[in-house]
Amino acid sequence: MLISRRNVLRHIVTGAVTAALPSLVEGAGKTGGPIRLSRNENAYGPSAKVKAAMQEAALNVANRYPDVEAEALRLKIAAHHGVAPEQVVLGCGSSEIMRMAVDAFAGYRKKLILAKPTFDSIRGFAERAGAEVIAVPLARDHSHDLGAMLARADDTTGLVYICNPNNPTGTLTCREDIEAFVRSLPPTTSVLIDEAYHHYVSQSADYASFIDRPLDDNRVIVTRSFSKIFGLAGLRVGYAVATPQAARRLASYQLPDEVNVVAASAAIAALDDTEHVLASARRNADERQEFFNQANARMVRAIDSHTNFVMLGTAGPAIEVIEHFRKNDIALPPPIPLFDEHIRVSVGTAADMLEFWRVWDLMPGHQMSHE
Ligand SMILES: Cc1ncc(COP(=O)(O)O)c(C=O)c1O
Repeated sequence: MLISRRNVLRHIVTGAVTAALPSLVEGAGKTGGPIRLSRNENAYGPSAKVKAAMQEAALNVANRYPDVEAEALRLKIAAHHGVAPEQVVLGCGSSEIMRMAVDAFAGYRKKLILAKPTFDSIRGFAERAGAEVIAVPLARDHSHDLGAMLARADDTTGLVYICNPNNPTGTLTCREDIEAFVRSLPPTTSVLIDEAYHHYVSQSADYASFIDRPLDDNRVIVTRSFSKIFGLAGLRVGYAVATPQAARRLASYQLPDEVNVVAASAAIAALDDTEHVLASARRNADERQEFFNQANARMVRAIDSHTNFVMLGTAGPAIEVIEHFRKNDIALPPPIPLFDEHIRVSVGTAADMLEFWRVWDLMPGHQMSHE
């Protein structure tokens, strides 16, 4: 057979692509790649109803810009929370809302105050915008040290970020304390309250969502994500609820067409599927409890969690433990500032967690955290 130059090229190219594929798709499916316990997703994914909505949108409206679907989602979210549509701003994940909030309230020469450690995507946005970032260590009980944060606030502080429950500690900051804190801030300081893990919070007198019980304060912005309990992290949808005035200001920094048609359709179906949300919360609570049982059985310390992840003591350098898990095909997040003897472990499927403890037990002297 005669092989033309073009055919040779095609073979080389296809060969190169095929060879590259395993690394590209590593971890993409349920079967291939490491077990992902690193990003606090819902390991079980969305419900069958949501998958059907995604398929329908992908097949029938992918050729359209998303204005109809995105507006339908905005109305749906407003109805879901009993707020006006003008109070809802959509984002390409709640991460995009953080970027908008920085651009709207904490740009060049202003200050952003946040906790340390916390979910700190917003820190990168602020630094790139030329804002000064002040990171205040958590209190001893791992709540936000609101007193210390307040002490750092002045009239150049554009924004304060409060992650409640907090990532990576999984802990709550008391609702009443946050209210008093907001009241004491300078009148020009906005507060972004990140409720990405809201649905996982166990019953607690200390917690009430600022969407469910709003403060009606132009300075307060609350964010939620479809990436956690709704199981849609890969589709990138999040939103903010704020007063109409704050929402308008945020939205002026929004990407045009920030949410795609598949994501918007999936999110609408997900909000309707309350049964799936409740079942996912129950399953997470059971599996989180089982995680604590396993930790206790090994006398390993863990911080009580209101989320779908747990901070586990390692009684030794976390970096070595993370490396041990990596070698055994389990992905964990990088070491956490101020917590160099802890790892953060996302609650995966029951099978993932069995594998987690099997790999834990392979560590030399794994019963490290004797109390
Ligand atoms: C507290 C917190 N907020 C926001 C996000 C990002 O959410 P999204 O996927 O909606 O951008 C995460 C992701 O892990 C998170 O932990």
